[in-house]
Amino acid sequence: MRVLLAGGAGYIGSHTAVALLEAGHDIVVADNYANSSAEAIRRVEEITGKSVDLFEADVTNHEDMRRVFDAKPIDVVIHFAGLKAVGESVEKPVKYYRNNIDTTLTLLEVMAEKGVHNIVFSSSATVYGDENDVPYVETMKKGSCTNPYGWTKSMMEQIFTDAAKADPEMSVVLLRYFNPIGAHESGLIGEDPQGIPNNLMPYITQVAVGRRDHLTVFGDDYDTPDGTCRRDYIHVMDLAEGHVKAVEYAAEHKGTEIFNLGTGTPYSVLDIVKAFRKASGVEIKYEIGPRRAGDVQDCWADATKAEKVLGWTAKRGIEDMCRDAWNWQSKNPNGYRD
Ligand code: NAD
Ligand code: UD1
Repeated sequence: MRVLLAGGAGYIGSHTAVALLEAGHDIVVADNYANSSAEAIRRVEEITGKSVDLFEADVTNHEDMRRVFDAKPIDVVIHFAGLKAVGESVEKPVKYYRNNIDTTLTLLEVMAEKGVHNIVFSSSATVYGDENDVPYVETMKKGSCTNPYGWTKSMMEQIFTDAAKADPEMSVVLLRYFNPIGAHESGLIGEDPQGIPNNLMPYITQVAVGRRDHLTVFGDDYDTPDGTCRRDYIHVMDLAEGHVKAVEYAAEHKGTEIFNLGTGTPYSVLDIVKAFRKASGVEIKYEIGPRRAGDVQDCWADATKAEKVLGWTAKRGIEDMCRDAWNWQSKNPNGYRD
């Protein structure tokens, strides 16, 4: 199959590119490099020994996307393209709604024009909000999001669901990611946030490599065994392999299906600090700070549906996640700028 990765030069897209190529699929990548660089795809080619059709394209732009779809026939689209910084989405909500919703509408319109019916979408556990109890199950009602980024995901899920309802030819797979961390085991590709990292693991690896002085742990007064929040961290290569299954499923089914992609095992912030220290041998200086606005105490998946329906489970453990995150960061202290 030929798979279009919209936003495929980013963190999850580049790892999924490797997994798809290794599973024998062809890929096309379209990205405007809003939060990435073409270097990631060059490294995907180095890892796999295969060449990738790469387009500099804005997924909100119809002409750009027509050019991509006209180049070669596409069987399935994966929609990774979007802005994802939660804090920035609070400060610049219109920018987030404009970019994220527009990428979705443009993709759906151009897909309809070109007769492409299958799409896999990067959603997030954030759509469960804080009204639901862990573990989150796909059948739960969605909750209230705590920021515009989260709302764009919730709205885009609705747009895809409605589009598939109206077109019996369509196949939509909504993947709700939990917390992807780690990197490809080669250390050639990994997470490369611009500016100060918002997320835990890139912050830890930047402390380890000396780019930041210390980690601030956002609150230790939660109702958890060590007082810090718990999350379902998943190795990005497990997540990538989940996309291979999702793409194959999308090509064979119609309608909308939702899958959690998580491990089902929670770890606290301090568990991650300890696991990273063990995997890297590097001490992580940290201080306890106040809670971060919008954080939920607990977030983890019931991952049984993906296992039953897609035949997918996460195989890599927390040691692998920490080792591979450190391998990437220590080999590329300044990310792709090295
Ligand atoms: P990322 O920022 O590394 O990748 C997103 C890619 O989309 C980037 O390469 C960026 O340049 C591109 N992009 C953004 N707007 C675009 C546009 N208009 N046209 C073309 N390209 C555009 O982020 P990621 O971590 O790889 O996330 C991929 C997707 O998964 C995003 O939609 C994100 O919201 C979602 N997601 C990520 C996480 C996470 O923890 N990383 C969790 C849940 C969901
Ligand atoms: C966040 C977003 C979520 C998004 C995901 C991927 C919020 C509320 N949620 O998830 O919508 O899909 O990123 O982009 O922002 N932590 C620290 N110190 C730090 C950084 C994080 O203690 O410097 C803690 C957090 O409080 C949290 C855990 O580490 O308990 C994980 O945080 P993070 O990596 O930002 O992910 P989420 O908040 O789960």
